[in-house]
Amino acid sequence: MYEVKIIGTGSYAPSNIVTNDDISKFVDTNNSWIVERTGIKERRISKEENTSVLATKAAKLALKNSKMTPEEIDLIIVATGSPDYFIPSTACIVQKEIGAFNATCLDISAACTGFIYAINIASQFIKTGQSKTALVIGAEVLSKIINWEDRGTCILFGDGAGAAVLQRSSEKGIISIYTGADGRGGEFLECPAVPLNNLFTETKIENKNIVTMNGREIFKFAVKIIKECIDKVLEDSGYSLQDIKYIVPHQANTRIIEAAAKRLKIDEDRFYLNLDRYGNTSGATIAIALDEMVQKGLLNKGDKIILVGFGGGLTFGAELIEWSI
Ligand code: UT7
Repeated sequence: MYEVKIIGTGSYAPSNIVTNDDISKFVDTNNSWIVERTGIKERRISKEENTSVLATKAAKLALKNSKMTPEEIDLIIVATGSPDYFIPSTACIVQKEIGAFNATCLDISAACTGFIYAINIASQFIKTGQSKTALVIGAEVLSKIINWEDRGTCILFGDGAGAAVLQRSSEKGIISIYTGADGRGGEFLECPAVPLNNLFTETKIENKNIVTMNGREIFKFAVKIIKECIDKVLEDSGYSLQDIKYIVPHQANTRIIEAAAKRLKIDEDRFYLNLDRYGNTSGATIAIALDEMVQKGLLNKGDKIILVGFGGGLTFGAELIEWSI
């Protein structure tokens, strides 16, 4: 079995900034409620660029930063809950745009845990020798599936994409991985696809692709599962929380992180957060945060970090990584 390391990252978000005051103009809310209850101050909302465009821009930066050519990429995985098309996959569109014609391409659906799941899948391809260099992307344009009349959800989400290049290595990079799901909680965060309407269907169903969420249930689940996932990867790796420089969590609400930090008995500043500027970009949050940390020079070779995610499905997972760049 080979080892797997991350050799470069990239991210991209649309330039259109939507503040809480902007949102207050069309739903009954206000800046102080949103900041106090969620920690979000603004988010990026796409005007013209669909998910594959954001994914492609993040991918090009990740390739540049990892000094890889498109031809060297043999696997592209895009984690998204908001693809441009059912067919083709977003990964195939990215492949065409960047010219990575040696790659196997697939999308995965694991909501906000998508980037964690995608790293897990790419790692298995690399560990077994099937793949040598993989491009993993989390990309979302959630603004097209959000109910802009529902103040309980429209304040939370934003658009963006992040990418990482994973490569076969002889040294340890991705040290331990844990992923899981509980489909019994699927109804807490939903966005229907196309309903079953065909020539033979007797009752026609309205086509309604918008997000609905039971915020309180997701909140409770998130606080519990963040600790469980972190404990699991620590246990598997033999490291303790003291060894970890940063935890890079899926970001949905700063109060979730505060509560999780309390459970873990650590300071909140051990979590890297940029939710105030991006909102919840679902499958892209961890990828964008990771790239931002790299750009800021916060990570040095040998640092141990944990990526941890949770979300619709319900899905969850974590990765303990020794930084290799
Ligand atoms: O990526 C994973 C998916 N999402 C999440 O992880 C989200 C997890 N959940 C949350 O972040 C929180 O549950 C929310 C931010 C969605 C809601 O916060 P909350 O503290 O759980 O509020 P709530 O739903 O219990 O509502 C409290 C009150 C209600 O009013 P009443 O019934 O007490 O009069 C809501 O109608 O706040 C009201 N409210 C708002 N008020 C102003 C709900 N949304 C808003 C709003 N502005 N945007």
